[in-house]
Amino acid sequence: MGKSTKYTAKLPGPDGRIHYTDAENEIWHDLITRQIPMLPGRACRPWIEAMEEMRFPLDRVPQLPEINQVLARHTGWNVVPVPALIPFTEFFRLLANRQFPVATFIRSREEFDYLQEPDVFHEVFGHTPVLTDPRFAAFIEAYGRAGVAADPRDHAMLARLFWFTVEFGLVSTSEGIRAYGAGIMSSPGELVYAIESDTPLRKPLDPVDALRTPYRIDIFQTVYFVLDTFDHLFELAQRNWADFIVEARRLGMYAPTYPPKEAA
Ligand SMILES: [Fe+2]
Repeated sequence: MGKSTKYTAKLPGPDGRIHYTDAENEIWHDLITRQIPMLPGRACRPWIEAMEEMRFPLDRVPQLPEINQVLARHTGWNVVPVPALIPFTEFFRLLANRQFPVATFIRSREEFDYLQEPDVFHEVFGHTPVLTDPRFAAFIEAYGRAGVAADPRDHAMLARLFWFTVEFGLVSTSEGIRAYGAGIMSSPGELVYAIESDTPLRKPLDPVDALRTPYRIDIFQTVYFVLDTFDHLFELAQRNWADFIVEARRLGMYAPTYPPKEAA
């Protein structure tokens, strides 16, 4: 949710389908065929199994109705097309209604390796597989409800919890730490770094801690939060999130563990 974009939203036609050019479909192909071989040993098993369940085409951008068909069989979630950037209030409202907002444009060749905004590869490949998992689905719905109920001054704080779970979450498994966050899953560089580098700090997920931890969107993360198990997400969904916010506000922010962003 940055401030400006050079991309324009691609809108579905009357049949719910979005037209992608051959060049755009090729970008999808190149992104997904690069990323899938990176997953073993780095993505957690529930994530890989969910991704296989999605049966993403390799040669073209998947259409949102196709994704909704799969989600309907598992959790009843929907993906809905939105412009790249939407206000917090709209974002929370959609999630509380079990609707996941998806930016539909695809990145240009020039930004093939990295772009700050969420594009359709990040949204669809990164986010939608775990929406088939009832534990994850319950967590995001609870998150949306907490956002709807929250005072607007706490929206940025809630964004941090989303960042450190849905976007950059790790989970402990019998085979070692593995990733499930969409920001990691859609980035070959960060997938390797998040699992294999000795540089970042990896902390057990504590929601109040995550609410208090600052982040930068334009660098690999310096801190990752690690779930004990995927079931932990479901347990968190049952908790009173307003209490987390009050506690985080009382304790205040942690100091950043990254260097300040240099002025452009
Ligand atoms: Fe995202």
